Amino acid sequence: MKKEIPEIPSGSIFGHLKSYVNDPLAFLQKQQKIHGDIFTFKVANRRLIFINHPDYIKRILQENHRNYKKSEAYRKLALLLGDGLFTSDGSYWLSQRRTIQPAFHRDQIKSYAQTMNDFSMKMVDRWRYKTEISLTTEMTRVTLQIISKTILNIDLHKEGQAVEQHLPFALKYMVNRITSPLATPTWIPTRSNVKFKSTVKILDELIYEIIQYKKQHLGVDLLSQLILLQNEHTGDGLSDLQLRDEVMTLFLAGHETTAMAMTWTLYYILQDEALRSRLIYEIRSIKNPWDAIGNYFIQSVISESLRMFAPVWILSREANDADQLGDYMIHPGDRIIFSPYMVHRHPDFWDNPDQFIPERFDKLPAHKFAYFPFGGGPRVCIGEHFALMEINILLVTILKNFPKMSLKSMEQVGYDYSITLRPGSEIYINL
Ligand code: HEM
Repeated sequence: MKKEIPEIPSGSIFGHLKSYVNDPLAFLQKQQKIHGDIFTFKVANRRLIFINHPDYIKRILQENHRNYKKSEAYRKLALLLGDGLFTSDGSYWLSQRRTIQPAFHRDQIKSYAQTMNDFSMKMVDRWRYKTEISLTTEMTRVTLQIISKTILNIDLHKEGQAVEQHLPFALKYMVNRITSPLATPTWIPTRSNVKFKSTVKILDELIYEIIQYKKQHLGVDLLSQLILLQNEHTGDGLSDLQLRDEVMTLFLAGHETTAMAMTWTLYYILQDEALRSRLIYEIRSIKNPWDAIGNYFIQSVISESLRMFAPVWILSREANDADQLGDYMIHPGDRIIFSPYMVHRHPDFWDNPDQFIPERFDKLPAHKFAYFPFGGGPRVCIGEHFALMEINILLVTILKNFPKMSLKSMEQVGYDYSITLRPGSEIYINL
């Protein structure tokens, strides 16, 4: 039986713009309780379809993935990322993915562990002279340092400082454009449009300079590998523009996500004394931080943290052609959103979903697409193993060196809905 997807009436010409933009998760959670796992609603001049059942998500990300391209939000990201892996689609994406995949192979990731460890150690050494740190800032800084070093093999000195200085503005600009459906077109010379263009120019010049240098001085970094890589089918290497787009993409996708995963994980652990004690106990026997990957309990804690605070909290797609999700019809051009944060709390698939219970990962989730912090299907996160290695190393290094660290305030921080799910206010830690 074919059915149209039920629409939530709004009574306003702007649809649900205000409540959706103010607090998207609160809005979606409220509507899901009333309307169930599939409904549609208007936000300004757009009609969005929200889905929350793992079967529907499996259909979009895996079974019929060719029918679903990345949506408008991703195209806005392309202003900064160009046609990198995250934003591209179709045969171009497939060819890029095939070319870049080997650089993210599990064995390759092991060679980055030392760099991750070096920067984690530098960070905790710096902390020894402090009594207090701000968690989000520190995690963002260290993950940016790690990604800069692994991709480009530059320390955050001269070139790196330029990245650290300019990238955050470019990201904030992108987020504003994505979250505000009424953003001014980019060709209008507003102050922030002009600043964005000049920031991208500075970052571009820097990246092109490094690409030229690397071509003469190949190393063990990711960029050197990308320069050497060839598409297995065509034998072609990547052009300078392609290299630039991928470097920019990996910068963005490869640090903010992991920084937020670390922030939420530590934030939670520091609120639960029993959990912290058990972790300190487990960590005592770990010699090299990267060996934590083999510790079952630590992996369950990380999985549970990514369940409760999925850094990529929302994904979206646009239908090329008609399709069906269960009994419901999808029309060409339909825009569909879905949230790992919400599916990870679906009561049909998770017991006590609001409680932090690492042991729930003793068995596999009830449905493959009931747990997808890294997405799924062919477009699953290419950096999954990289991120997990980095989180393990950072977590072990921090807890080993500062086992008594504590939250300055036990007040709940709330959420800031950026490209990633960020804490609503800065989290301060007493060392
Ligand atoms: C905890 C950390 C991370 C999380 C939660 C995460 C999550 C995700 C998710 C959910 C997607 C799929 C998006 C979609 O289908 O629309 C994705 C894609 C991607 N991620 Fe990650 N990611 C993380 C870390 C990383 C790292 C460290 C890198 C690179 C070093 C990276 C690079 C990418 C790229 C390039 C894509 C696009 C892949 C493609 O479409 O072929 N991510 N990530």
